[in-house]
Amino acid sequence: MPERAKARVGVLISGRGSNMAALLYASRLDPACPYEIVVVGSNDPDAAGLKLAAAEAIPTFAHSHKGMKRAEFDAIITRELEAAGVTHIALAGYMRLLSAEFVTHWQGRCLNIHPSLLPKHKGLHTHQAVLDAGEAETGCTIHIVTPELDDGPILGQARIAVLPGDTPETLAVRVQYAEHQLYPRVLADFVSAADRPEALLTRVRGLIQNLPATADKLSHGMPAFFVEGGKFFAYFTHDHHHDGVTALLLKVSGQDEAAMLIEQDPERFFRPKYFGPAGWVGVVLTDGPDWGMIEALLTAAWRLCAPKRLAMLPI
Ligand code: GRF
Repeated sequence: MPERAKARVGVLISGRGSNMAALLYASRLDPACPYEIVVVGSNDPDAAGLKLAAAEAIPTFAHSHKGMKRAEFDAIITRELEAAGVTHIALAGYMRLLSAEFVTHWQGRCLNIHPSLLPKHKGLHTHQAVLDAGEAETGCTIHIVTPELDDGPILGQARIAVLPGDTPETLAVRVQYAEHQLYPRVLADFVSAADRPEALLTRVRGLIQNLPATADKLSHGMPAFFVEGGKFFAYFTHDHHHDGVTALLLKVSGQDEAAMLIEQDPERFFRPKYFGPAGWVGVVLTDGPDWGMIEALLTAAWRLCAPKRLAMLPI
């Protein structure tokens, strides 16, 4: 078995960066850790965590957001992250609201840590809010980032007791102990889960939903996608005939296109068995494919198989 490629994580910080450090050291401690920290970025050039990252030989970048429109600034951050080959983002005390463009671009690949047991106490001044509410316990939450602040599916939580005499400061310290245990674990689970067939099929379905008039049914045991009134344009295959491969089989314009793709990247593309010689190519979905490329190929496949009146629609 070839070794799995690690997820390439970019961490965004605005302050001390103790969570970033916890993620980094956890990844270095365990050779089998499924992620590596490849870059640390900040909206504050003076963020202390940047120095720590640089001292550990992690590339860093910093851009001040002052005077910039939110989406404009976020586009710079995306460019930096992509230049570093980032597959996932971990927000760790990043004190910037994110633009819708940024969140959509990184959808399902961006996590955040919040110092409360969400959905309780979103936003700032969390520990004071916990004390004011007379809570007996608090903690921290890791969640997937969605356009709503401190919202999105919860991936993990750690709980700590609130003690008599606690202040926001004492609580913050103990919550951080828990954060440093929780984040590396949840991030490792999350990036591994991304290669599970269910997660990959969900991601494929998400892309296909954007194409007009599509439906699917099982064909030869595989979810098969077709254009209503047209033909099949994609099949999702997992461990078909025990080949151990999770892939998308896509209609292409012909043998030449399939051959070209396979030649360009023989690890990623293959000629599907049982599909006859012409017109189909397989794309391996595990180990972080280029999802933008998959989206483009899916759209082209859809167009090849759609009835004329649909194929002419601009998508
Ligand atoms: C953490 O408590 C985190 O929950 C919140 O900001 C803090 C960041 O601390 N979002 P650090 O920079 O990781 O030390």
